[in-house]
Amino acid sequence: MKVLLISSSARGHSIADALARSPQKPEIVSICPSTNPGIKKLSIEQHVMDIMDFEGILKIASDTKPDFAIIGPEDPIGGGLADELEKIGIRSIAPKKSLSRIESSKGFTRNLLNKYGIDASPKFKVFGSTEASSLSTFIAQDLGGEFVVKYDALKGGKGVKVSGEHLNSVEEGVAYAKECIEECGSVVVEEKLVGPEFSLISFTSGLQVVDTPAIQDHKRAYEGDTGPNTGGMGTYSDADHSLTFLEASDIARASEINKLVADALMKECPEHPEGYVGFLYGGFILTKTGVKVIEYNCRLGDPEALNIMPLLESDFVSICLSMLDGSLSKDMVKFANKATVCKYITPESYPVSKDQKGERIILPPVPDNVVVFHGDLSEDQEGLLLGGSRTAGVVGLGATIEQAEHLAQAFCEQVTGPVRFRPDIGSDALIQQRVLQAKSIRTEDQHNTATVA
Ligand SMILES: Nc1ncnc2c1ncn2[C@@H]1O[C@H](COP(=O)(O)OP(=O)(O)O)[C@@H](O)[C@H]1O
Ligand SMILES: [Mg+2]
Repeated sequence: MKVLLISSSARGHSIADALARSPQKPEIVSICPSTNPGIKKLSIEQHVMDIMDFEGILKIASDTKPDFAIIGPEDPIGGGLADELEKIGIRSIAPKKSLSRIESSKGFTRNLLNKYGIDASPKFKVFGSTEASSLSTFIAQDLGGEFVVKYDALKGGKGVKVSGEHLNSVEEGVAYAKECIEECGSVVVEEKLVGPEFSLISFTSGLQVVDTPAIQDHKRAYEGDTGPNTGGMGTYSDADHSLTFLEASDIARASEINKLVADALMKECPEHPEGYVGFLYGGFILTKTGVKVIEYNCRLGDPEALNIMPLLESDFVSICLSMLDGSLSKDMVKFANKATVCKYITPESYPVSKDQKGERIILPPVPDNVVVFHGDLSEDQEGLLLGGSRTAGVVGLGATIEQAEHLAQAFCEQVTGPVRFRPDIGSDALIQQRVLQAKSIRTEDQHNTATVA
């Protein structure tokens, strides 16, 4: 058994680790944009190259003849790498290009939900250059000045601007929306929702949709959810695979939405009768009118993968093969009933500058119930060196979030080098804040209902 893994970063390391734990002991051929010591250790060969160089990837694929491929990041998926690999007879755990529009076009996704009657979007409109003149009226009147402007193409998590945070007036919103239209032809403008966000990722094969544990991510750089946005500073999940601020009906609704979306994608892209194959990532928000979709991604999240993959008790290679032949079922996928807390170690100046790039970092020995996934770091004869981006994801596993948090925290505190992490991720104080936020949103809803009644 041989698997071609196209992925960098800690997400790629967590996928490689799940493959390596398979009793089928697959040989891993990895293709990464920079050396990843963690993935390298688990691979029979690691090719360091541009992961958008499809010609080069296809050459390696035809030379190494893998049984299947796994594509980690959105750029090669959105560029159609799964389609290209299939042309040379290699199937991928990643959706085809037209199905990956679920991430690469936020306008496609909002329209898809509408077309198939999935009632989970805020008020929104997709604008092209011919509709640009009505932007101002839509933002000011229809949305009452509380709005979000979304770039309608892949932009590495940097294309969304929210009123009150990045945009301070209707005029600034219109200007940014026009900039987006100029760059990519269209823009999504939508109502600003308020509430706690969470992710629910499902292993998906056509209409078979098997959920992984729900996760909450923390995008902001500094403690207390302050500072600039990052790729994600850390995440947590709970032992029951839901989250403390969610009721059973909320998680059931998110799960239902993922299933409805897989079904809608199957109908929308009949040229791929196998449907969506890969990780279907629903980004949700709990609002006063229920669970809504913030966005969809066509891959595992980073850090979310770091929480999910260590919990997987089933054979990941078998799961992948079932996803590829359309026989995936829920009983094949077992996750441990443990809580996880992931804290990312990053260079001190991340994400503002890359000043510590090349400096040395020393990781302590990894104790039981802690897993460390390598991100942007490299290795020389003396040890590990920092890259400019997120360094390593440290995951604690425990019976409770508190236990998992203590384990991750204790490890992070022992790391030597010019690095930082967020001590508050997974802390009781922060989780209680989310519970209170959810409670106030629900009370507001009851109050509104009572007023209407
Ligand atoms: N309709 C919305 N209301 C409120 N906040 C939003 C809305 N859409 C996006 N956001 C905020 O912006 C962040 C990024 O938006 P998202 O759609 O997830 O795009 P991306 O991850 O591609 O940057 C979200 O995590 C959320 O905090
Ligand atoms: Mg997002």
